[in-house]
Amino acid sequence: MTIDSALIKSSFAAVEPRGSEITTYFYAHLFEHNPDVRKLFAEHRDEQQDRLRAALTTLVDKLDDTDTVVAVLQGLGRRHAGYGALPAHFPAVGASLPAALAHVAGDAWTPEAEASWTALYGVVTEVMGGALTEAATD
Ligand code: HEM
Repeated sequence: MTIDSALIKSSFAAVEPRGSEITTYFYAHLFEHNPDVRKLFAEHRDEQQDRLRAALTTLVDKLDDTDTVVAVLQGLGRRHAGYGALPAHFPAVGASLPAALAHVAGDAWTPEAEASWTALYGVVTEVMGGALTEAATD
């Protein structure tokens, strides 16, 4: 499966104005299915939700600029080593993120959009997870 950049952008544009609903649903879904990761997150998540939303917006905006996407993901990965995130956590986030997008998009969410987001998340996991592992072993 390849990443259909136009489809990622159009599906995200449809939900981006409701970004706070995406992040609220995302955290609820993540913590419901993975109660053990809740302890990694600070108590007040409002600011954190805005940062997650901003990171997603940047990644989608810069999707065709591979150098920038890789640099952003490597920086995120390195910082996540300090948050106690582990490569093993990525599948959990990879399940909760599309669930949140699908929930907010409703009928506008298609199997094709889901497949493209899954392919993109594979790249995110590889690059962010690689930088995280490197930083964690430094
Ligand atoms: C698509 C993958 C992910 C993205 C885009 C993402 C994005 C972000 C962003 C933008 C921040 C704000 C701080 C910063 O910019 O460094 C953050 C913080 C954080 N992330 Fe992630 N993240 C991802 C995956 C994960 C995973 C797999 C975990 C593991 C459980 C995780 C756990 C955390 C924690 C614990 C914080 C700190 C929160 C706090 O201070 O309360 N993230 N993430």
